[in-house]
Amino acid sequence: MTPNLAKFVDRLPILPTANPLKKAKNASFYEMRMEEFKRKFHRDLPPTTVWGYNRQVPGPTIDVKKGETAHVKWINHLPPRHILPVDTSILEKGLPEVRTVTHLHGGHTPTESDGYPEAWFTRNFGQVGPAFKQKVYNYPNNQRAAMLWYHDHAMGLTRLNNYAGLAGAYIIRDQHERSLNLPSGDYEIPLVIQDRSFNQDGSLSYPTQPDDAATNLPNPSVVPAFLGDTIVVNGKVWPYVEVEPRKYRFRILNASNTRGYTLYLDSNQSIFQIGSDGGLLKKTSKMKQVTIEPSERFDVIIDFSKWNRKNITLKNDLGANASEDDQTDDIMQFAVTKPLTSKDNSRIPRDLSSIPSLHKQPIKAHRQLTLQGSNDQYDRPLLILNNKRWHEPVTEKPQRGTTEIWSFVNTTNFTHPMHIHLVQFQVLDRQPFDLDHFNQTGEFIYTGSPKAPKANERGWKDTVAAPGGQVTRVIANFGPYTGDYVWHCHILEHEDYDMMRPFKVIDPNEKYHDS
Ligand code: C2O
Ligand code: CU
Ligand code: CU
Repeated sequence: MTPNLAKFVDRLPILPTANPLKKAKNASFYEMRMEEFKRKFHRDLPPTTVWGYNRQVPGPTIDVKKGETAHVKWINHLPPRHILPVDTSILEKGLPEVRTVTHLHGGHTPTESDGYPEAWFTRNFGQVGPAFKQKVYNYPNNQRAAMLWYHDHAMGLTRLNNYAGLAGAYIIRDQHERSLNLPSGDYEIPLVIQDRSFNQDGSLSYPTQPDDAATNLPNPSVVPAFLGDTIVVNGKVWPYVEVEPRKYRFRILNASNTRGYTLYLDSNQSIFQIGSDGGLLKKTSKMKQVTIEPSERFDVIIDFSKWNRKNITLKNDLGANASEDDQTDDIMQFAVTKPLTSKDNSRIPRDLSSIPSLHKQPIKAHRQLTLQGSNDQYDRPLLILNNKRWHEPVTEKPQRGTTEIWSFVNTTNFTHPMHIHLVQFQVLDRQPFDLDHFNQTGEFIYTGSPKAPKANERGWKDTVAAPGGQVTRVIANFGPYTGDYVWHCHILEHEDYDMMRPFKVIDPNEKYHDS
């Protein structure tokens, strides 16, 4: 595993903003080229071969105004061989080894530009997948200010392509947010958190087989989970950042494959969460610690004004299961060493935005969707949704413009972060049930009453923690587009095998036929 590395010796990289090739009044044109290159993750590590967009890992941040369309040509310029172990047993036969397709996570995106897993393409569009539609993706950005993110979504390769580096932040800004006088400019910093393991030679380490692998497994074989032994923020292992004694806004993205984090500050300071996946919350939520699952975004303010000359560590509470040599309880450090350059006039507002309740709308459908475990022919764990594999026909077909409740019934004993494309949803509640009884009879005996979402979930979400033995209910309005989308667990090892399902938004006025 990773050689011992000193902590807080590398400066936190500030992610560069993507430069549009062209800018029109309400549109920007970008080219994002995926390439293989080397990047140093730590002072004492040799350079690491990675895949990134425009020679950045994470990719450059796309930063747009609400209503400004971004046209992005995602170009695959990667070599023909993968840098990580590809398990072909979970793929259709004969697929090219290196395939990519980019998804804007959290975006209200037309289906042709959503990055459907089977809309993949190879280098220079040499080969394209069955769902491929177009080379240039269009993002209308008609949604409230939020930090989204873009990442690779190729069928059966998402865990590897993301681990190799194909991910980046995407910020939409609007007038309302600007009016709040939040910390901005140099005092607004995106933090992309990922766990990684490295070999002695600096190369990325990713398992070729599960730990307790039986002998008959395919080699390489997909693994049911991945936990790296170092924490990387904005592309550096355990970095530090020098800050002024003032308020900062940090836009935190958990871009890890499997790992969730419970973040807290060793100064015992509060973290003020102002936004979640889909933008500002209703009210600021003041917390000592926050748990962030893969793909969730937490928009937070930390006030360093009383901490001049102090070093504050952002920690990860590993809970009781932590082993002694586990180093992943450290994330990064804030060194309050810079002089205050100007008076801090920014604010932490109590009220942030209005969130219209979807609850009041008529509910067109209520879907009960199970998250369940099974085994494949090699006796490997195979996680599935609603007892169906990815390739089975579409079963979820909401009508455009209608509101539905989706209940994620988690019959496993761990949390799955569930994500729905196209929409931002609201979390209604969570309710525990008797798991054993359910698994034997299929019948719910609730063991408690429904619990309201946490304070920092009272806003728009696109990814929600669905804990084991609970029903997690979300509500969404499916629109404004029709077409093919997906919903899945955002643990990338699960998504790839096979915890992902298609859904189709249909036009209520159009007759359609099941194929
Ligand atoms: Cu971020 Cu379908 O995923
Ligand atoms: Cu998504
Ligand atoms: Cu999962």
